[in-house]
Amino acid sequence: MKRVLVFLLLFQAVSTFSRMKKCFGTGDVAFAIDGSESVGEIIFEVVKNFTIDTIDNMIIGPDNFNIAAMVFSSSLTLEDQFDFHEYQEKQHLKELIGNLYYIREGTRTDLAIKRMQEMLDSAPRKTVPKIMVLITDGKSASPVKTIAEAKLSKSKLTDIIVVGVNIDSSDISAIYELHAVVSDPDMILWLSFDHLRFHSPEQLLDSICQNASSSIITLLSFLALFFTRLFCKRCF
Ligand SMILES: *[C@@H]1O[C@H](CO)[C@@H](O)[C@H](O)[C@H]1NC(C)=O
Ligand SMILES: *[C@@H]1O[C@H](CO)[C@@H](O)[C@H](O)[C@H]1NC(C)=O
Repeated sequence: MKRVLVFLLLFQAVSTFSRMKKCFGTGDVAFAIDGSESVGEIIFEVVKNFTIDTIDNMIIGPDNFNIAAMVFSSSLTLEDQFDFHEYQEKQHLKELIGNLYYIREGTRTDLAIKRMQEMLDSAPRKTVPKIMVLITDGKSASPVKTIAEAKLSKSKLTDIIVVGVNIDSSDISAIYELHAVVSDPDMILWLSFDHLRFHSPEQLLDSICQNASSSIITLLSFLALFFTRLFCKRCF
């Protein structure tokens, strides 16, 4: 009888765990959200919600994921970004993303990549995987500079994931540029407005997790939390 119970509990733990989209790794992840005029207010808000949803499905903490984020346009502003020194607590990070504002000018993707790399370089943890998530609706103001910054970051072993939002398949120059920026062709996601609005960020989580190092500490802390919750309903 006891054995059946333990089995059932384990089964439930594993199925809950696998529903968490398998993102149980370790890594520093910097998000850059395109705040250029062409994006439009509504898509900008949808992208922010998508980013919040992504973070919601990651385990945040000193042994797991740390997050930084920014909005980029013709320039970056200090008020429209936060780095890895920010208090890394999920609810707080989600609020910070929610407060990012739309700049509505040009698309200096090169500045965003450069800044993400500075944030990753100055992050408190030195040996964890470094991952960038660039979310943009197309071609940058200077593709040559953008590709050069991406190349520099990749030479520092930073992984660059690209989310192309609402990009037309005939927009050859945007597609060419984003292919030159990304670390691996598998790590470009082409997402439509409707996809961003109505689907969970599963593909993005898969890409992030592919490059995160998986940590046994995360698995153990998940199981500990699961069983504490189960046996100690009044502790929370
Ligand atoms: C973003 O999420 C908030 C909170 O869930 C919601 O109120 C808002 O309508 C969403 N924005 C868009 C543009 O979907
Ligand atoms: C990140 O994942 C991609 C796709 O699987 C892979 O090509 C790349 O080598 C990985 N990067 C690192 C540093 O492991």
